[in-house]
Amino acid sequence: MSEAARQLARDYVLVLNGPNLNLLGTREPGVYGNTTLSEIVADVETVANAADPPLRIEHVQSNHEGVLIDAIQTLGPLAVGIIINPAALTHYSIALRDALAAVGTPTIEVHLSNIHAREEFRHHSVVAPVVLGQIAGLGPDGYRLALRHLIARRAKSPEAKR
Ligand code: DQA
Repeated sequence: MSEAARQLARDYVLVLNGPNLNLLGTREPGVYGNTTLSEIVADVETVANAADPPLRIEHVQSNHEGVLIDAIQTLGPLAVGIIINPAALTHYSIALRDALAAVGTPTIEVHLSNIHAREEFRHHSVVAPVVLGQIAGLGPDGYRLALRHLIARRAKSPEAKR
């Protein structure tokens, strides 16, 4: 692919959501709130559309580790950035971590709940060492804040990967 084609393709942010996040809205609302995943995606799409130049959102939710890894491998390399809530995979998926490390695209890890204030097994993220940063505990705002950061980062250095 030519450099010009590469730059043209870099007009989207890849948003990935892991296992059980399709159930948001009804899943443990005391922990995860009442907002549905469609509402979260619609919200980031609004922010992405308003960016200058506008960005698209490529969204993939899957309950299967391999589907998320395939999305990172195929859509990750040309994305402006990746926003990922790996859900339970956060705590044990070396394969997901390796996929993110392999593509090297700036990635922000998002969790609706504050994983550090919950059960001990949620305190550790195997993904955290290979991402730019982590936002946890801010509910759906975390996705929007992550996107705003990626937009600001693109404005500063449109060519930058890491
Ligand atoms: C989560 C936190 C994880 O520990 C949990 O397994 C999830 C959701 C969050 O968004 O708070 O499924 O990633």
